[in-house]
Formats: sequence, structure tokens, C-alpha cells
Amino acid sequence: MKTSILAANEPHTIAVAAAAIQAGELVAFPTETVYGLGANALNAAAVEKIYVAKDRPADNPLIVHVASPRDIETLVSVIPPIAQRVIQLFMPGPISVVLPKSAVVPSITTAGLETIVVRCPSHPVARALIKAAGVPIAAPSANLSGRVSPTKAEHVLSDLDGRIPYIIDAGTLEYGLESTVIDCTGPTPILLRPGAITKEMLEVAIGPIDTAGSQSPVKSPGMKYRHYAPHTPVLLFTGHPQDTEAAILTMVAKLPPTERVAIIGYSAGFIESNFVRTLSADPIKAAPLLFGALRELDTTSVSRIIVQGYDDRGVGAAIMNRLRKAASSMIEL
Ligand code: TXA
Ligand code: MG
Repeated sequence: MKTSILAANEPHTIAVAAAAIQAGELVAFPTETVYGLGANALNAAAVEKIYVAKDRPADNPLIVHVASPRDIETLVSVIPPIAQRVIQLFMPGPISVVLPKSAVVPSITTAGLETIVVRCPSHPVARALIKAAGVPIAAPSANLSGRVSPTKAEHVLSDLDGRIPYIIDAGTLEYGLESTVIDCTGPTPILLRPGAITKEMLEVAIGPIDTAGSQSPVKSPGMKYRHYAPHTPVLLFTGHPQDTEAAILTMVAKLPPTERVAIIGYSAGFIESNFVRTLSADPIKAAPLLFGALRELDTTSVSRIIVQGYDDRGVGAAIMNRLRKAASSMIEL
């Protein structure tokens, strides 16, 4: 299959992509978080193609995207008051809510679960596509299963070239981290995946929430898989920035001259080069560039990618959640 790249600002792009969705085909499209791989969420045969294209395990359910928060109603059997509040305050935006599903959603979309994750993205191209298609769009991140989520159209192409007909290219994205996932099916909401809508923000809005991990069995099937992993081993340093900076610089200075490593960091001691990516010390500004840096450095010949960790608060908690999954080893200072 030939994969065509459609520029988001070309006049016919949305019509072509919407027609493909209506015909049961796949379209990779931008959202404000990461690029998604979309299919008509109500068409089981179309949704099946997502699992095939990504090599995604059949027990890992998909997020269903709507053009407007009010379109959530038909997909779910009930919207409890806490979920209403989350929807009202944070949608459209980078958050997804787990609710009991309604009968219109085929079981393949939710991997057989009685719950469904719904999300109303804020990216104008995502919203225009869903609106023009006239159906809710099931979309996981548009990477091969287990790989780093794509934040540029070229990342999608490098994973899925030849496997999907269309990619809509809208350049770089606002957040660069997958949406926050919050389970609102029980008495106390549970944070299943941290994201740009932080635990702190949610607690101000809806009171105490639990964190995934304190429940069993696994509440979010996808979280049990190793995610976000480049091919190159990632070594993650955690601790105070001054300590991680010093430890990384010392380690690199002691390497044998034959070993070349890459660094992703934000302290002043790191100088941007072919093998060093300097991000902002502010996790909100760093997040949109992080996955791209991991993907780019993964294409170099380095033996390891060394990453300077962030503080586990706010958006830093979301970054660290992804980095811990990407890391093959960690040094805690
Ligand atoms: O930002 C995002 O959320 C992006 C964009 C494209 O919207 N999508 C995304 O999808 O990250 P994906 O499939 O890569 O991650 C969805 C996560 C997975 O961990 C999955 O297991 C979980 O949500 N999930 C899906 N349906 C669920 C359900 N019914 N109950 C619990 N977790 C669910
Ligand atoms: Mg994913």
C-alpha cells in the first residue's frame, strides 16, 4: 500500500481523509498530544485494521475521539457527576475519560471491555476531521506497538509507511505527551495515565483521586506493555538537577574513547550537538520535544541514550512516567 502525506492546510485534505474514514480506511492525524491512527470507531472491520497496522495486541483497547463533548453521550451508558465535571472543565483538551460503554460501540474497539475511553481533542485538524467524517474516531497513537509515540508526521511515516493509506501532516504539536487517562467508573476516580492535565489540576477540580497501581487487576490494559522504547538502551538519571548533571558529565568523561553516547538534558553543562539534545528545564516546554529527541537520537550509532530526569510533579510526573517505561536502566541519586 502506498502511504500518502496530506498537508493539513491544503483545501481538500479534510474531505479526502474524511471520505477514507467513512470508507473504513485508516488515517493518521494530528491531535494536540501526539499523532493518532484513526478509524471509524463504530465499524469493527475498520477498527481491526488499526490493530493490524500497528501490530497492537488484541487486548489493548482504543481511545474513541469525538468532535464535541456532547457527542460522548451516545457512546456511554451513563456520565456520573464527576465525569461531567471533568468533561466540562477540561474538554476539548488533552484528557481521556473511562466510562461504561453503550451498545453502539463494537467490542473490538474496547478490546472486549464493558468500559470505553472517550476524548475530545482540541487540535483544530482533529476536530475538523471527526466532524467531516460524521462518526467517532478510534485512535491509538500512530506508532508501531511498543515504540515512542509520534509527534511529527515523519515519525508516523517511519513506523507505518506502506501500512496505512494517509497521514495528515500538521507539523509539530502543542503537548507532545499522550493524554491524561482518568477512570470515572467507580466511586473514586483513578488516574490511569498522567498527562498534561495533571493530578494536581484534577484534584483542585474534583477532589481526591487514586493513582493506578493501587488497584488490581490491571485497570488500563495498555499500561502493562513496555511502551515508548527506542531501540537504543536508555539510561535514566533521577534526582536533584545539580546531582544528575554532575553524575552524567562524570560518567561521560570516564567513557572509553571508542564509546559514543547521546544525552538529553536541561542543565547548563549540556551543550547542544549532534549527540546532545538540550531541552527546557520547564517540563511543559520540554514535553513537545522529548519524544522527537528520543526518536532522532535512536537513529544515530550511539550505544546508549542518557536522559536527565525531571521532578515528579505536574507535567514532570507525566514525562517521568514515559521515561521510566523507556529506560532499560535507571540511576537514582
Ligand atoms: O493522547 C492520546 O491519548 C493519544 C491521541 C492519539 O489521542 N492516544 C493514545 O492512545 O495515546 P493509546 O492507545 O496509545 O493509549 C490509550 C491508553 C492505553 O494504555 C489503553 O490501554 C488505555 O488507554 N485504554 C483504552 N481503553 C481503555 C479502557 N476501556 N479502560 C482502561 N484503559 C483503556
Ligand atoms: Mg500508544
